Amino acid sequence: MSNPSTPSSPEETAPYGAGPAATPAAPRKRVRTHHLRELKERGEKLSMLTAYDMYTAQVFDEAGVDVFLVGDSAANNVLGYESTIPVTVDELLPLARAVARATRRALVVADLPFGSYQASPEQAFHTAVRFMKEAGAHAVKLEGGDEVAPQVEKLTTNGVPVMAHIGFTPQSEHALGGYRVQGRGDAADRVLRDARAMQDAGAFAIVMEMVPGDVAAHVTAELAIPTIGIGAGPGCDGQVLVWQDAFGLRTGKMARFVKQYADLHAVLLDAARAFDADVKGGTFPGSEHTF
Ligand code: KIV
Repeated sequence: MSNPSTPSSPEETAPYGAGPAATPAAPRKRVRTHHLRELKERGEKLSMLTAYDMYTAQVFDEAGVDVFLVGDSAANNVLGYESTIPVTVDELLPLARAVARATRRALVVADLPFGSYQASPEQAFHTAVRFMKEAGAHAVKLEGGDEVAPQVEKLTTNGVPVMAHIGFTPQSEHALGGYRVQGRGDAADRVLRDARAMQDAGAFAIVMEMVPGDVAAHVTAELAIPTIGIGAGPGCDGQVLVWQDAFGLRTGKMARFVKQYADLHAVLLDAARAFDADVKGGTFPGSEHTF
């Protein structure tokens, strides 16, 4: 028997999601790399979050977050790997494509995964072009300082905006001896040298991960391009977090630099338990859900 309060065939609403066009519009003026630099010049902060899919990209866009990073952290936050090392270009491309399609305002930056750029500037260019052409990313991010300056120069002189990533670089976890703060004591010079090398090679911004706050503030003051900290204190020009950490989808021990803004794990757990109980108790679907 049909329910009179629901539309009859054809459906008036898309049954399983309607794609990016049918969702609330974020302000449309696109964030560009020069806007980030202008924010720094005005002493204003910028925000960046990871995003790996359409709905989170739309929500974060609506919230006004300036930059989305389709991080290789998708490896351990989406794809179930233990670290970022195994994830491939082919695995990240569809995620970057979904985020780019769904985003109207934020600058979308795609991470180049481990092994996809270190071998040569040509390799880096080939990989970066895939992210821009096949996924629609606006820029790429790669890890390393001095040693990847030729790669950054190749990209930036050939139309690929580059965000650099220095300090603790997760792809080099094994070379660095684990998750450790970088730039303590004499090693502070190395962080500044890497930052300058990235700026000189044409990077438009630099992520600094797990660097002492005073060192990060000094580097930030020395550079014309914005710095974006993760575990690098308040002296950076912007901040980035992995969204599953910040909004509590992931549980367990968090790094000291994570601030938790929500407990999405608890919200989803309650909802999933309620669904499970309804189905097993026979209270879902009701007549209002039935054609
Ligand atoms: O992949 C990632 O999420 C990152 C952030 C930690 C900056 O590189």
